[in-house]
Amino acid sequence: MLGDFTYCNPTKLYFGKNAMDGLNRELPKYGKNVLLVYGGGSIKKNGIYDKVVAILKANGKNIFEDAGVMPNPTVEKLYEGVERARAAKADLILAVGGGSVCDYAKAVSVSVHCDEDPWEKYFIRFEEPACETLPVGCVLTMVGTGSEMNGGSVITNRKAKLKIGHVFADEKIFPRFSVLNPEFTYTLPKYQMVSGFYDIMSHIMEQYFSGTDDNTSDYIMEGLMRSLVHSSLVAVREPENYEARSNIMWTATWALNTLVAKGKDTDWEVHMLGQAVGAVTDATHGMTLSAVSMPYYRHIMRYGLEKFRRFAVNVWNVSPEGKTAEAVAEEGLAAMEAWMRSLGLVMNISDLGATESMLDDLVNATLVMTGGYKVLDKEEIRAIFKESL
Ligand code: NZQ
Ligand code: ZN
Repeated sequence: MLGDFTYCNPTKLYFGKNAMDGLNRELPKYGKNVLLVYGGGSIKKNGIYDKVVAILKANGKNIFEDAGVMPNPTVEKLYEGVERARAAKADLILAVGGGSVCDYAKAVSVSVHCDEDPWEKYFIRFEEPACETLPVGCVLTMVGTGSEMNGGSVITNRKAKLKIGHVFADEKIFPRFSVLNPEFTYTLPKYQMVSGFYDIMSHIMEQYFSGTDDNTSDYIMEGLMRSLVHSSLVAVREPENYEARSNIMWTATWALNTLVAKGKDTDWEVHMLGQAVGAVTDATHGMTLSAVSMPYYRHIMRYGLEKFRRFAVNVWNVSPEGKTAEAVAEEGLAAMEAWMRSLGLVMNISDLGATESMLDDLVNATLVMTGGYKVLDKEEIRAIFKESL
């Protein structure tokens, strides 16, 4: 490992069928006023809301609700949440939902006591909070983003046609605790479930396809990807297979809880392309990534050929015997594409509502990253979007 680093992950996890018991252990550590944050109502239909409220009441908490956090939470909703948290004099924000709810809770946390505009401060200037922040806890209901154990928060500004993620370095912004019960994810519609699966894969690939040194993180990631491919194929056939869903939930957390990024560069260009698609179409996050991935990886393959060859052999079991590195690498990407199609992922941005007339907006909204095998120029970004249409 060539890079120096500091490692600390402060989030306490409660994992498994009885994970919700962890709330009883955590809640006494915080004050009485709890801002209960959730999305469009799935938790009311599947009973998770009732369970959480019963535990909050049993612990003597005053519950203040902030419902309606939409997928790809907006800056307008953030401003509203800040007002609610202030009015409630919240001591704890409890996020019950997927990555959107959890990301939003973190954004509210850093904004409640902030005098500046949070969009400008955190999502344009990427500053760390200088003010007091509120603790966040999470009950996860959708698997994919890793938001349950990281400092990431992604907010969309539809007027500016921008979707921007800030990965807060400050450990206080990571959830203090997260409740991970794989059974809570059974009610996800298939579209959301497989979108989350691809989000996990993409997180790993973004961190895998960089650097040339021999690095422990790459070996860990190969194991995570093998586990994900195996379990995802089981889960699409049998959505209530606990073994598969629990492995996927755990893989998602480790894919983006800062561990595998340590000691190496990371890419994240697929996420920048996907976020541009999200900013313009408001499409589901994982699908924005699947729709741009094949053109992107086929484009950069030749710049990181040895890693793509290794990916083919170690993740997709491609036999390298008697083949050029290029042929092996191409077989690996073909195997990945076949896996993506078998899950039912979206493979074109036109299926998400993008059109040729949006190309300028898409290119403008795409941030250029420098940690991968090829730093893209604007023409390459345009060509990748065109091929993704
Ligand atoms: O709003 P409700 O009614 O709850 O429905 C949600 C939502 O419509 C539904 N859902 C969640 N759990 C469910 C369920 N439906 C039935 N049963 C359940 N158990 O699923 C839909 C999608 O939820 P959402 O939270 O939007 O999904 P996801 O977890 O994929 O989060 C996406 C957001 O996270 C950001 C994305 O950009 C996007 O804004 N990301 C956050 C990251 C981070 N913090 O590190 C990294 C990621 O790369 C990503 O960018
Ligand atoms: Zn993602």
